[in-house]
Amino acid sequence: MRLTESKSSAPFIWCGLATSELAALELARLEDILDDEERARIIRLRAAPQRRDSTVAHGLRRLLLAAFTGQPAHSFRFYRDKSGAKPKAEGLPQIDFSLTHCHGYAAAAAGAFGRIGIDAEPLDRKVEPELVNDKSGTEYETASGTIVAWTLKEALSKAEGSGLALGFSGLNVDINSPRLLAAPASFGNPAGWKLERHCHAGFTIAIAFGPTGAGVRHGLH
Ligand SMILES: CC(C)(COP(=O)(O)OP(=O)(O)OC[C@H]1O[C@@H](n2cnc3c(N)ncnc32)[C@H](O)[C@@H]1OP(=O)(O)O)[C@@H](O)C(=O)NCCC(=O)NCCS
Repeated sequence: MRLTESKSSAPFIWCGLATSELAALELARLEDILDDEERARIIRLRAAPQRRDSTVAHGLRRLLLAAFTGQPAHSFRFYRDKSGAKPKAEGLPQIDFSLTHCHGYAAAAAGAFGRIGIDAEPLDRKVEPELVNDKSGTEYETASGTIVAWTLKEALSKAEGSGLALGFSGLNVDINSPRLLAAPASFGNPAGWKLERHCHAGFTIAIAFGPTGAGVRHGLH
C-alpha cells in the first residue's frame, strides 16, 4: 500500500492514498476491519468507485486510531450526536479524527487534545471563487489557489464540526504558508490553529488542527 503519511512533528497523524493503486487483497484487509454499520452504509453507495473510496477512508481512520491508542483497529465504535454532526469514537474523548473520500482518493487524520479536519480534492476541480472568498476581500488569483483555499477551509469546517453549514466567508486563510488569519469565535484564537497542505497523486490535501472548542463540541475535555 503506497501511503502518503505525515512527517511533521505536529501532534497529529494522517495518511492518504490514491485508491486505484490499492491491490484487491489490501482493499479486502481494510474492509475486514470495518464494523457492520460501516459496511451497511458503504453497501448503500451506488457506484463501485465510491464504495472503494469510502472503504479505504474508513479503514485508514481505524488504522490511525489503532496507531494512536494501541487498541485493535476493528475494535472502535463510532457515533454522532445527531444527523449531520461530526462523528466521534466511543470511549476516546481525547482523540479527534476526520476522514475524506472523493474521486479516487481517501485520507484520514487523527490528533489528541484538539480538533482535526482533513479534506482532499482533485487539483483540477473547479470551484466558484465566490464560494471561497472571505469578508476581508481576499481573492485567489488562480484556479489552483481557489481549490487549495477550498480544501483548507473545508478541513477547518470539519475540524470545527459544522461542515459546509459554517459558510466560508468568515474564514481567512493564507494559502502560501498555510495559516488561519481570521475565523468565527467557535474556532478560538486563529493563531492556535495549525494548517498543512499537501499535494499527492493529482490531489490537494488539507489538514487543520486546532484547540478544543469552548463548547466541547467533540467531547474533548
Ligand atoms: C462534512 C462535509 C463538509 C463533508 O463533505 P464532503 O466533501 O462531501 O465529504 P468528505 O469526503 O470530505 O468528508 C466526509 C466525511 O466527513 C465526516 N463528517 C460528516 N459530517 C461531519 C461534520 N459535521 N463535521 C466533521 N466531519 C463530518 C464523515 O466522516 C464523512 O464521511 P462518512 O459519511 O463516510 O462517515 C459535509 O458533508 C457537511 O457539511 N456535513 C455537515 C452538514 C450536513 O451533512 N448536514 C446534513 C443534515 S441532514
